[in-house]
Amino acid sequence: MKTLMIIGAAEEHCIGIRTAQRLGYQVFAIDGNSEAVGLSVADASAVVSTYDAEMALNAAREHVKAGGCVDGVMTLASDVPFTVAYIAEHLGLPGIGITSAKLASEKMLMKDRFLEHDVPMPAYQEVFGADDLAAFVEKHGMPVVVKPVDSRGARGVQLIRSSEELPGSYEVAREYSPTWRVMVEAYLPGPQLSTEGFMIDGIAHIPSIFDRNYERLEMYAPFIVEDGGEMPSIYSDDFREEVNQVMQQAALALGIKTGVIKGDLVIHEGRVKVIELAARLSGGFFGTLAAPVSNGVDLVAANINIALGIQLTEADLKPSHQRGSAIRFAFPPVGMIKGIHGLDGVKADPACRYAHVFAKPGEYIAPITNHPARPAVVVAEGGTVAEAVGHAQRLISAIEWEMK
Ligand SMILES: Nc1ncnc2c1ncn2[C@@H]1O[C@H](COP(=O)(O)OP(=O)(O)OP(=O)(O)O)[C@@H](O)[C@H]1O
Ligand SMILES: [Mg+2]
Repeated sequence: MKTLMIIGAAEEHCIGIRTAQRLGYQVFAIDGNSEAVGLSVADASAVVSTYDAEMALNAAREHVKAGGCVDGVMTLASDVPFTVAYIAEHLGLPGIGITSAKLASEKMLMKDRFLEHDVPMPAYQEVFGADDLAAFVEKHGMPVVVKPVDSRGARGVQLIRSSEELPGSYEVAREYSPTWRVMVEAYLPGPQLSTEGFMIDGIAHIPSIFDRNYERLEMYAPFIVEDGGEMPSIYSDDFREEVNQVMQQAALALGIKTGVIKGDLVIHEGRVKVIELAARLSGGFFGTLAAPVSNGVDLVAANINIALGIQLTEADLKPSHQRGSAIRFAFPPVGMIKGIHGLDGVKADPACRYAHVFAKPGEYIAPITNHPARPAVVVAEGGTVAEAVGHAQRLISAIEWEMK
């Protein structure tokens, strides 16, 4: 029996752990949080930071020394492509390679590669203070997006519309960068898409395209906080070809010929632009749950096959049906949680495909400025996208937050 190592063992990783087990594999999971639920779902586990590639490799070696094996390595939802690639390269397992993983996790390196390969994207620049930001604005105009070079989950990502906000935005972004590095981009207005797919032998296959929901943009300004999304995208018919072509170009620019590719895209002035390519499936239950609800393509199983070196075929990525699916998150008021009610009713609802509350009574809800801070999620299904969105909105509102 083959063993798959999964980097991360939180709620969303459990979908990967259980899928691998259902496909007949043993799972060895690691997570830095000893309370992570997946550690006891996996067949074997270790408590190790998912961001520490060397320690994670040591954990894999210890697992093998103790009589286990590691035949493939992957993650889901976590932005740890470097750890995955590092282990794969050192143990001789399938992977995208350390170089591509670095390019995929450091936004300046990524954009420099995109520029060299003519990938359509916003103007960008690394900045070392408010003066650099002002100079960029002088050249490219407002609005701009100020963000850390190497963070994730939209931490410290800010949409800036006025010069007075520039110095503060620099400091905030800097705080969220593990290396204190900040960059700026021209803000590209337009519909935002999230895409899930794979490179197979140099060709992009993108079976799942979501419309991301940014209706809370003003409420949480300047932070860019997404409230879920829905699939199929209303743009999928018109833009599928262009999405495929642009994602393929972006993946090849990073040297990814076979592997998972997730796109953060914007349709700006009628053309697809790349904000970012991640070498993993989305977080936020897009790739793991909502995409298969909508079109039947099991992206997690496909990811597992790639990690184990099993050739994917077009049939693995062919939609079997088309339904609406929608994700929405909870945005409770700021304060201490006294009680959370209504979750059982939400879960029992026929339209509910998944619901989970991450927060607990006694926890303090701060203003929500990034994605990991959203304390509950629902995934709903409907005959159409509009129906699914209606269900998701109804279900997320049915979770009651009693605050102190
Ligand atoms: N230049 C831009 N123009 C338009 N939207 C942008 C721009 N930069 C970022 N965004 C929006 O903000 C989101 C978060 O930005 P980004 O992906 O750079 O940060 P992140 O920390 O990697 O977030 P995540 O982990 O959610 O991808 C993007 O997915 C996109 O929706
Ligand atoms: Mg991103």
